Amino acid sequence: TVNGLPEFQECQLRGADIDLEHIANASRSSRKPAHFQVDLALKLASRFKAFGFSNGTLNIPVKLAAHILSLLPANPNVAATEVSGAGFMMITMSGEVLANRLQSVLTNGVNLPATVKARVAVDYSSPNIAKDMHIGHLRSTIIGDAICRVLELCGDEVERINHVGDWGTQFGMLIAHLKDTYPDFLENTPEVQELTEFYKASKIRFKEDEAFKDRAHQEVVALQAGDETNTRLWKALCAVSEKMFTQIYKRLGISNKLKVVGESFYQSRLPSVLEELETKNLLEDDQGMKVLRIEGSRVPLIIRKSDGGFGYDSTDMAAIRYRLVERGFDRAVYVVDKGQELHFDLIFAAAKRAGWLEGGKVAEHCKFGIVCGEDKKRFRTRDGGVVRLVDVLDEAKSRALNELVKRDAKGRARTQKEDQEKTAEALAYSGIKYFDMNRDRLRDYVFTYKDMLNPDGDTAVYLQYAHARMCSILSKSGKDIDALATTATIVLEHEAEIDLAMEILRLTNVLEVVRKDLQLLPICKWLRTLCVQFSTFNSHCRVLGNEKEDSRLLVVHATASSMRLGMSLLGMDVVDRL
Ligand code: ARG
Repeated sequence: TVNGLPEFQECQLRGADIDLEHIANASRSSRKPAHFQVDLALKLASRFKAFGFSNGTLNIPVKLAAHILSLLPANPNVAATEVSGAGFMMITMSGEVLANRLQSVLTNGVNLPATVKARVAVDYSSPNIAKDMHIGHLRSTIIGDAICRVLELCGDEVERINHVGDWGTQFGMLIAHLKDTYPDFLENTPEVQELTEFYKASKIRFKEDEAFKDRAHQEVVALQAGDETNTRLWKALCAVSEKMFTQIYKRLGISNKLKVVGESFYQSRLPSVLEELETKNLLEDDQGMKVLRIEGSRVPLIIRKSDGGFGYDSTDMAAIRYRLVERGFDRAVYVVDKGQELHFDLIFAAAKRAGWLEGGKVAEHCKFGIVCGEDKKRFRTRDGGVVRLVDVLDEAKSRALNELVKRDAKGRARTQKEDQEKTAEALAYSGIKYFDMNRDRLRDYVFTYKDMLNPDGDTAVYLQYAHARMCSILSKSGKDIDALATTATIVLEHEAEIDLAMEILRLTNVLEVVRKDLQLLPICKWLRTLCVQFSTFNSHCRVLGNEKEDSRLLVVHATASSMRLGMSLLGMDVVDRL
């Protein structure tokens, strides 16, 4: 009677290739020494009830569990199986197999998830020319960078795209204002700080002065028509801003593979996008505009404005076609705040109707929440202005440095004086990054320096200390650890050792989930758990001077290098001494 049930077949299937990765989908058991508990028999038993069987003295789940276990072929990864009183199948992994796997992590690196490789375009950071990068761009930059690192490690071919706002009507007012106030702009290019002030000033004129507004419009028209002076001015404006973006990327360790392919890049493609959508009968005329309506949405996409110009919507249509059709990417990811959700819903729906998603291609809005100040409102400066990213980085760094200097004065710092500056930067920036990624990215959060730099909280600083402790054990041994990895063998005996090994090996599953969901929280959680397991190991298993010293050193080594890998995936610099 059991045979026809789909759950049963699934169980046989799982039994046949019962493996770490598969068992890991079961829940971790809190009943030692079992590592996993599988609730399949309990689920099956509830089906029995539906067939009119009553549990009574039969204890169906227990009997079923025992029966299922008896059907499973022998498996070298499993040391023991057992049925719990409630009918859970309790599985204990073989210490030897775990030890072998761990050893292989040391020699061959992390076991990567088996996936079909994809070509992925990731649009992230994407700040605007002549404006300061703000905290929203910070989120996009660090989340996007981390996602690219994970995808790349998993074997995907990744292209990092910086879709900077380098086109649009604002350049008209900038150029007009430039011609009035900076006649020698091209020879004497100002710094970007001046540029943002300059942006504000030109905006005020634009709002208040009709004649200026007209001139601004003429300058845009001239720019779009390819006027030489205006093109040179526009390029110079972009260059000043890009210099500032690059400085920030450098500080944050953002991959230099992030390339600017800004809005202006798509200008030449806009007419043919319009034409294609027109031919496919997707456009409507609306008060002189060409719009594309998506069922269920009140606002349409504006494909061409009434003055004949193109805007944000048209550019993103050209961008998605370029990425999926012209360049043939399988997956187009947009790391942009959730405020633009509607925009991307419409763009993706329109792309689908245009047939650009055919062949299993996907477009995803990897959206994130807003950063708030301690007043729970959008993060602002005291006078209500935009918080500049540089100031945030400076502030975090100076706080981390203060802390180090204080510890040093108390004789508690192990950081060399000459390394203090670099260490402070690592703590500050990794602190900001972890604080940001250690949560569901859709949630808004409150930006507090104190919380993100707290050494006792769930923070990067805590991770850094744990990692430094591992490094200090390794260096105190006085042994060449890399050489040891090829000569000594790991033997796992103590429960805490086995738990730690299991946690290290779990990274494979974590990566698989992250690649699919584009959430970085699982990596943060994994890093944190790794540290917690490590501290249990450290208090129960003596490493130095123990007869198992070599094996245990390798366990520490595997933990430390896994931490470095995990942290570097999140774009965090790791320090060895603290
Ligand atoms: N520059 C835009 C902003 O600052 C973000 C662009 C996001 N990417 C895109 N393809 N629309 O809001």
